Amino acid sequence: MISKNDIDKIFEAALIEEVVGDFVVLKKRGTNLLGLCPFHNEKTPSFTVSPAKGIYKCFGCGKAGNSVNFVMEHEHYSYPEALKYLARKYNIEIEEAEATPEQLIEENTKESLMVVSHFAWQFFTERLHHTDEGKSVGLSYLRQRGFRDDIIEKFGLGYSPDARDALYTSAVSVGHNPSFLEKTGLCIKKETAYIDRFRARVIFPIHNQTGRVIGFGGRALKKEEKAKYINSPESEIYNKSKVLYGLFFAKKSIIVNNNCFLVEGYTDVISFVQAGIENVVSSSGTSLTTEQIRLIKRFTNNITILYDGDAAGIKASFRGIDMILEEGMNVRVVLFPDGNDPDSYARMVSTEELKKYITENTQDFIRFKTNILNADVANDPIKKSELIKDIVTSVSCIPDPIYRSVYIKECASLLQAEEQALLSTLNRIRKERINKKVKQQGSNELEELPDTFVPVTTPANDGEPENHILEKDLIRILLSYGHKNITIEKTDERGLPAKFELPVAHYIINDLTNDEIELAHTLYSKMFCEYKSFTEQNKLPSEHYFTQHPDADICTAAVNIISQPYRLSDKWEKKNIFVVTEEDMLHKTVHQVLYALKLKEINKMLKDIEIEIKNTSNEEALFELLNKYKSIKDIQQELAEALGGRIILK
Ligand code: CTP
Ligand code: MN
Repeated sequence: MISKNDIDKIFEAALIEEVVGDFVVLKKRGTNLLGLCPFHNEKTPSFTVSPAKGIYKCFGCGKAGNSVNFVMEHEHYSYPEALKYLARKYNIEIEEAEATPEQLIEENTKESLMVVSHFAWQFFTERLHHTDEGKSVGLSYLRQRGFRDDIIEKFGLGYSPDARDALYTSAVSVGHNPSFLEKTGLCIKKETAYIDRFRARVIFPIHNQTGRVIGFGGRALKKEEKAKYINSPESEIYNKSKVLYGLFFAKKSIIVNNNCFLVEGYTDVISFVQAGIENVVSSSGTSLTTEQIRLIKRFTNNITILYDGDAAGIKASFRGIDMILEEGMNVRVVLFPDGNDPDSYARMVSTEELKKYITENTQDFIRFKTNILNADVANDPIKKSELIKDIVTSVSCIPDPIYRSVYIKECASLLQAEEQALLSTLNRIRKERINKKVKQQGSNELEELPDTFVPVTTPANDGEPENHILEKDLIRILLSYGHKNITIEKTDERGLPAKFELPVAHYIINDLTNDEIELAHTLYSKMFCEYKSFTEQNKLPSEHYFTQHPDADICTAAVNIISQPYRLSDKWEKKNIFVVTEEDMLHKTVHQVLYALKLKEINKMLKDIEIEIKNTSNEEALFELLNKYKSIKDIQQELAEALGGRIILK
């Protein structure tokens, strides 16, 4: 474990412009530096480095972070690896800090699971290449399937021997802890002993995004084996719904080609890469999750799904694809000839033929779905109306209204239906969905604020749900203006008006704490609480505290929040409310966000009391409740007016 002190030293030394400058040519542009983004393909530079803030941000692909994040992202390093790289660069000696046994256990479990997985991976590759059994059974199988040696090497394929506990014995003999072998699922504890999970199988290691091995798939070699594949179970390092097989190798190619091929199996990925098509990932036989879709979305907006020719599952997959459409991604599909999966087809034809096949057979998903389902309908009007509803549901998932209307036109013509009928179905489905969402999210929603509410600043739309924008804005104000002083007029102990000057952060935190208001968004709430613990010691966090935070989520959020371009809402200008000075605006910004948060809380309280009123039959209690309701209603009114700008803030 690297000590906090050393981490601080590294951050202090590692100037962002120098760290990035080792990999990117930067030119001065005002107070910032500008260059071509190393994380996506671009011709005009949008990769910005701010020496003052110690951060980088690409306005093309959205990547952002501090010096350590840059090294992690660029070199595929883990956090400690990146720190060590920078320590070497700046000749900083790292003392591995003494931690308590409990701390060590907690902080090191994940790392230990990674280490033991790495050991297992080396064990499997060693068995494949350097033992008689591995060579004659495993390697010959892989070669027979047509996998080239360089590809076997690249994907780190291995072999697990046909023995009860070969891996276990080998791991324990060099000091690995059996409990970590068990936690990764590599070994299984039976009553008296441990046995290996993977036996007599070829091994496909599964990498995380920085290229470390976190799990395995094992393919049986004997026909009589019941399970063709066995996979690592979920563990602290392997969360199946957040991993895509092959993504580590595919990243660059996905960016360059601005498209990602999605296949079903390990072997499909490997055969495509062997054929020179590298932008390919697999969900490993499970149904796609939103998290996996978002992983792809970080690199491209385009997905092409490759189907087996005999896939019985095509129709079953349609529901999952609506999820991809909902993410605003463009979905296309390719159907392989009967009896072929992408792997077998890629091995059967030349690379040129494969590419040609894909080009000629790529279809738009909605069109594909419409045609497939339409084939079953024949002339049955009931089936046809179900079909229309089904297709329009898919179209309704697309966030962009222009795309939606194009698809409606096209589907109307494919289905020989009235465009108007499809449109009204579309509107009905969207309305139902919105109503359902509102119900699910309850009453404390931004949407329910009076429409006079206008945030002073409008964040650039980064796809964040609206109900978090308010809390995000609060964090933004703390990070950007927390140190600035604000003057507040209040009455003093003697009841006389007096002016107080105090830091914005203290004011905000006291105010929200007094009213017992807590943030709902997990991450923002965490950041708020950390900020608060500083103010409780009468301190303020340093400028870089959050952008250099060891918690990657907090760090990313902080970098994004402070690098986001904010503009004054047009609505304010339209209302002829012009901001005169920074001080003036700060006052307004702070109060807007505090009032809006309080209004949310008040609305929630009102809803709760309404329910109580409905459920009370006792007259005295009812009277009390009504009184309470009225006084809260008054506060609501006051706040709403303050937000509308009609009351000049204190
Ligand atoms: N799979 C699995 N468990 C099984 C079968 C399949 O986990 N019992 C997963 C594997 O990730 C596999 C994918 O589903 O790669 C696709 O399955 P399938 O098409 O049956 O296997 P292939 O990838 O075609 O494997 P092979 O070519 O070796 O038969
Ligand atoms: Mn196959």
